[in-house]
Amino acid sequence: MHKFLWGASTSGFQVEGGYNLGGKGLSTTDVRHVKEGIADTKVASDHYHHFKEDILLMKELGLKAYRFSFCWARIMPDGHHVNQEGLEFYDQIIQLCLENDIEPIPTLYHFEMPQALVDEFGGWKSRKCIDAFVEYAKICFQKWQGTIKHWVTINEQLIAMAASDLNGNHENDKVLQTKNMYQMSYHASLAEKKVMKLLKEIDVNAKIGVVNAVQNVYPYSSSPEDVLAAMDAEELMMYMLLDMSVKGSYSFRVKSILKNMDCYPVQEKGDDEILKSSKPDFIGINYYSSICVKENKEHRINYQLPPFFRSSMFEVCPNEHLKKTKWMSNGIDPLGIRSIIYKIYNRYALPIIITENGMAYSDVLENNRVHDTYRIEYLSAHIKEVLRAKEEGYPVFGYCPWSFIDVVSSHQGFSKRYGLVYVNRTDQDIMDCKRYKKDSFYWYKEIIERNGENI
Ligand code: BG6
Repeated sequence: MHKFLWGASTSGFQVEGGYNLGGKGLSTTDVRHVKEGIADTKVASDHYHHFKEDILLMKELGLKAYRFSFCWARIMPDGHHVNQEGLEFYDQIIQLCLENDIEPIPTLYHFEMPQALVDEFGGWKSRKCIDAFVEYAKICFQKWQGTIKHWVTINEQLIAMAASDLNGNHENDKVLQTKNMYQMSYHASLAEKKVMKLLKEIDVNAKIGVVNAVQNVYPYSSSPEDVLAAMDAEELMMYMLLDMSVKGSYSFRVKSILKNMDCYPVQEKGDDEILKSSKPDFIGINYYSSICVKENKEHRINYQLPPFFRSSMFEVCPNEHLKKTKWMSNGIDPLGIRSIIYKIYNRYALPIIITENGMAYSDVLENNRVHDTYRIEYLSAHIKEVLRAKEEGYPVFGYCPWSFIDVVSSHQGFSKRYGLVYVNRTDQDIMDCKRYKKDSFYWYKEIIERNGENI
C-alpha cells in the first residue's frame, strides 16, 4: 500500500527570488511583476537563500511530498543553453528533500518561461516553443532520471495562456489576441504530449501528470438556460484542456464553440498523431472554490481575455449559498472539491492528486505568531471531503495545500497570503524574510501524524 502524499506546494517565481543570481535569465514573470508594480519576484520569499531552512521546516511539519516548480530561465537562461548552476540549485533542493523522506514533485512550467524566448519568437505563439520546451524537459528528465517519481508538465495551462502579460500576447486587436491565446494553448498541448512521451523513453518508471485549475460550475438557477450555461462553462474551464491532455482532442462541444468564435487553432499535418501519442499517468487538481454562472442574455461573442470567464455562453455571478471573504470572492465550498473528484474520475479514470487548495488571507503577525483559525477551518473542511472521496474508493493519492510558505500571490503580492509558514516581509519592505510557523502549521503537522484520522 502506497503512503498518502501529505504535501504542500509552491512555485518557482513565487518563492525563489534570486532573480539574477546563479546565472539565471530573466523570466516572463520578472518582467510582468516589475511592469505591474507587484511585490517583486526579485526577492519573493527569498527561498533562494533560505531553501535549506525551508526544507528543514518541511521535515518538522512531516511532509511526505513537496510540490514545487523549476524556473525554466534558471535552467536555460536564454531558452537554449544550459546553466549548470541552475540545475545544481534544483539538485540541492531535490537531494535535501530525499534525505528527509520528502518526495520532490517538480513542475516544469508554472506560469513562467525565459523572456528571451518571447523576445526571440513570441513564446508560445510560435511552434518553435514546442521544441524549446521539449529540449528543456529532456535536460530535466535526464538529470533526474531514476530520482523523480512524479513529474508535472504544465500548471494551469488555461490561466498561463490567457495571461497575456505573461506570454507576450499583446495585440491591440482583441479578436486576434483571443485567437492567439487558443493557438498558444494548442501549441502548449502539443508540447505537453511530446514531453509525456519523452519521459517514458528516458525513465520508464517515472510518472507524469498535468495540473489544472479545476472549476466546479453551478447553474445560478434551475432554468434550462442557466443549466446549459453551466455545462458550457465546465466544458471551457474544466474539460477543454483535460480532454486534450488525456484524450488528445477537444470535445465536440468545445470544437463547435471555438469554430463559432473563429478561434479554432491552426493545425499541421502530423499533429493528430502527436496528440494521440501519450497521456498522463495522473491528474493534479488545483481547487480553491467553485463558480456559479447564469445565461449570458446578450449572447454576444466576447473577445476579452480570459475568454472562458467572459463568454458569450455564460456570465459568472455570485453564489448566494456560499460564505465569501475579501480574497475568496467566489465563496468557500468544501463540498465542491469532492464533486470535482467525482467528475474528474468519472470522465478520465486516472489517479488524482490535489496539487493546490488554500485559503487566502491578509495574515497578521502578532508576538511572533499568526492565529489563522480561518485557514485551519478551510483546510480541515476540504481535507474531510477529499478523504471521504478516498474512502469511497476514488484513487486520490495526495493532498498539497497552497502554499507551504507565504508566496508572492499572482496579483496581490504579500497582502494576500496562503502559507502555513509566515514570511516576514511586506510588498514595500523586504525586511528580514524570517520564517514564523503559523497555527495552521502545527495543526497540519498533527493531521499528517494521524494520517488524517479524526480530522
Ligand atoms: C493558482 C496558481 O492558480 O492559484 C498559483 O497555481 C497561485 O500560482 C494560486 O498563486 C492563488 O492565486 P493568487 O492569484 O491568489 O496568487
